[in-house]
Amino acid sequence: MNKKFDEYKPMCRAIITGCGAYVPKGIITNDDLEKMVDTSDEWITTRTGIKIRHKAGEGESTAMLATEAAKEALEMAKIAPEDIEMIIVATITPEMVFPSTASFVQRDLGATKAWVFDMAAACSGFVYSLSVAQQFIESGHCKNALIIGAETLTKITNWEDRTSCILFGDGAGAVVLEAIKDIKKGILYSTMGSDGRYWEALNCQAYGSRYPSREKLEDPDKRFMQIKGREVYQQAVRRIVETVTDCLRHCNFTIDDIDVFVSHQMNSRIIDSAAKRLKLTDEQVFINIQDYGNTSAASVPLAFNDCYRQGKIKEGDLVVLVAFGAGLTWGANVIQF
Ligand code: UT7
Repeated sequence: MNKKFDEYKPMCRAIITGCGAYVPKGIITNDDLEKMVDTSDEWITTRTGIKIRHKAGEGESTAMLATEAAKEALEMAKIAPEDIEMIIVATITPEMVFPSTASFVQRDLGATKAWVFDMAAACSGFVYSLSVAQQFIESGHCKNALIIGAETLTKITNWEDRTSCILFGDGAGAVVLEAIKDIKKGILYSTMGSDGRYWEALNCQAYGSRYPSREKLEDPDKRFMQIKGREVYQQAVRRIVETVTDCLRHCNFTIDDIDVFVSHQMNSRIIDSAAKRLKLTDEQVFINIQDYGNTSAASVPLAFNDCYRQGKIKEGDLVVLVAFGAGLTWGANVIQF
């Protein structure tokens, strides 16, 4: 992590120069879910804020969504794919066990100079990835990076489990980071945390080395996401408040300095509750969970992109990105846009 904020003077900062998003055309409404499990539009809306989520079709994969989002971000940044130096794809629904999803994105974009890898930090994956790329750019190792969050969570959703199937959706969001000499701009600070003791709160256990695909699963539900919603809820509010408070204190900012607060979209009640504890106003907080559900690593860049395209993030704004998810993991980025 950075030294004390006032003492740390990097040669350059990493600034976002492009953003983009892509979601599959397929949609699942709350009404659709009412026909699948014992739930209701009313319950889902009041408990989560979700109205629809997108669902990848048979032939649609994580790398495909990621590549489409990346193209839009590159176009906005006016950078040719062959000039990109580093690609990170944050995902927990990768294209394959290996190679990385990022390898396919590199191939499909023609980003021939880039070195690439995936980041498996669940819902915090995009925030973690920005933080990693920030270090490479500030140290002068890279002059740019393409950071993508992409998920096809509906492929590991148990459509008979009403506690989880109402929550998740598919999509991808991307940003281009570039080095900028003006150190008052760009990603000013990032923080990350994790606590593996709570791994059971949110997981998908097969197929990895513990439950290899060649062995018959005693419990076939291990192929799907499993969540302990209440436990995650409480931890999420606590960690979001802590991590944002820590970031602001480190940068000598107050809550009032934040122009736009972009949280991982896991549940509008969790975001509202954390925002209330932080004393953020409704005007500062961006929410788009109604349109996508929880898209894990794609959620923060999807929200950032929507927020930007709706004209809610302007040059000079102080933007705070924050995420919390499986692992448990959490993190935040403070960005002078
Ligand atoms: O990004 C990180 C990943 N995100 C998460 O892990 C989600 C975090 N947690 C949450 O968003 C919330 O905890 C949920 C939306 C999952 C659940 O909301 P809740 O207010 O915590 O509800 P609950 O789990 O305490 O359940 C309340 C009731 C229960 O019934 P009883 O025991 O009171 O009779 C559940 O069985 O609601 C029932 N319930 C449902 N009812 C209708 C659970 N799921 C549903 C459903 N439809 N889909």
